[in-house]
Amino acid sequence: MTINHPNFGAIDANRVIMFDTTLRDGEQSPGFSMNLAEKLRMAEALAELGVDVIEAGFPIASPGDFESVHEIAKAIKGPVIAGLARSGSADILRAAEAVRPAERKRIHTFISTSPLHMKYKLRMEPEAVLEAVTASVSLARNHTDDVEWSAEDGSRTEPDFLARCVEAAIRAGATTINIPDTVGYATPEDIFTIFAALRARVPGADGVIFSAHCHNDLGLAVANTLAALRAGARQIECTINGIGERAGNAALEEIVMAIRTRPDAAPYKNAIETQKILRTSKLLATITGFDVQPNKAIVGRNAFAHESGIHQDGMLKNAATYEIMTPESVGWQKTSLVMGKHSGRAAFRDKLRTLGYADLGDNALNDAFRRFKDLADRKKLVFDEDIVALVDDEVVRDHQRVRFVSLEVWAGSKAKPRALLELEIDGAPHSAEAHGDGPVDATFNAIQTLVPHEAELKLFSVGAVTEGTDAQARCTVRLEEHGKSVDGQGADTDTIVAAARAYIHALNKLTAKRNRTAPAALTA
Ligand code: KIV
Ligand code: ZN
Repeated sequence: MTINHPNFGAIDANRVIMFDTTLRDGEQSPGFSMNLAEKLRMAEALAELGVDVIEAGFPIASPGDFESVHEIAKAIKGPVIAGLARSGSADILRAAEAVRPAERKRIHTFISTSPLHMKYKLRMEPEAVLEAVTASVSLARNHTDDVEWSAEDGSRTEPDFLARCVEAAIRAGATTINIPDTVGYATPEDIFTIFAALRARVPGADGVIFSAHCHNDLGLAVANTLAALRAGARQIECTINGIGERAGNAALEEIVMAIRTRPDAAPYKNAIETQKILRTSKLLATITGFDVQPNKAIVGRNAFAHESGIHQDGMLKNAATYEIMTPESVGWQKTSLVMGKHSGRAAFRDKLRTLGYADLGDNALNDAFRRFKDLADRKKLVFDEDIVALVDDEVVRDHQRVRFVSLEVWAGSKAKPRALLELEIDGAPHSAEAHGDGPVDATFNAIQTLVPHEAELKLFSVGAVTEGTDAQARCTVRLEEHGKSVDGQGADTDTIVAAARAYIHALNKLTAKRNRTAPAALTA
């Protein structure tokens, strides 16, 4: 029998309805609450992403919840807007009122059906629960044609009783039957069995859409959702970034990309525009202040990053060696070859090419690679910005008459700061020791000893190349001589070394300027 759904009409057999509950199940988890403006922005993004149903909230929960469902129902065009309700009439009427302005609306009502929940949470006998199913769905149907009924803790419900409840809900007019794995306890086999049995044995099952709502307590939410699809479910309840109660819900991005990447194993259709996944994920992270973990599938910072030399080498030869989907297909701009201490020279050279350093000479490349390895030993991850800073430094040094070799500094609140500096000047080693008011002053004085000059220090600033306490410092030094000023830059994980490099860079620039008119001796 073809399903003729009140909001979706005749639905193709393999079409999966994407039901997003980021704003309800996701939002109700600790720390993830959003204000009205944030929920509206998120709902817009979900509509742009192509979800079919937005569960906008639980209207009876608070006046704020009611308002956000109501405002989303007014503002968001396209997806069906759903409001959640328990089985009591007050809940259902409040949900009906909240979704009323929506172009396409749904009431989603639920009651617990497992022995544990009925006995301890509801304190209701099974027969009373059955009556509540019929009453709640009938009342909801008086307000919307599209009614979803959920068996809370469905996966731990006794199968015969679950079948009786589902039958009652269908008879009362439910158009979607949702069987949640509320506590994330089921295995994919359990889920397959539950859905297959209900579809086979419940009268009227072929005229409704079955839906999966899987929690992730055992990390099985996505696998369970896919198992439900295999057993004939055609609605998926999920959230962006997998947020939700406790360990969260099945992550939308993971299910969608599993379907897209493995059509052989999951031959289903949906309307998600996958290139918008990343920006929706980032929007949620920005709104809630919770970033996904770096290794989160699809949207984590490392999801398309390849650090080991072997992987990077393979990627350079053919991306399919280590990537099963393209980063672009979910909205990443380009593959991020994160460089680390295991990265090889080939990957480093390729990274330089993508960063615009195609024609770096062999010497500069070797020096840069040596410094990169040194940096990678001190810093866990080396980002593009680190490499730009390091290579820029190296490119400059390549043409310098004065080159930084080493620096030791003694500083603190007691002793007078002292710096011992080694430089290479026109290829010859030189060293000097100097004191100063602080470690930077002592270092600059040591430079002045080795490279006497009249230039005045006009500016000294320090910034961070990336984030974190192991980030490289990027220093700028401005020197002025006879009305001409130059800026020098230096980067290093040690701020004083970065300052020395910047000073030396500026001095070399000044020398280059001077040399255009009158060559001068540099050594002390
Ligand atoms: O996990 C659950 O059982 C739920 C229902 C309210 C659908 O979120
Ligand atoms: Zn849930």
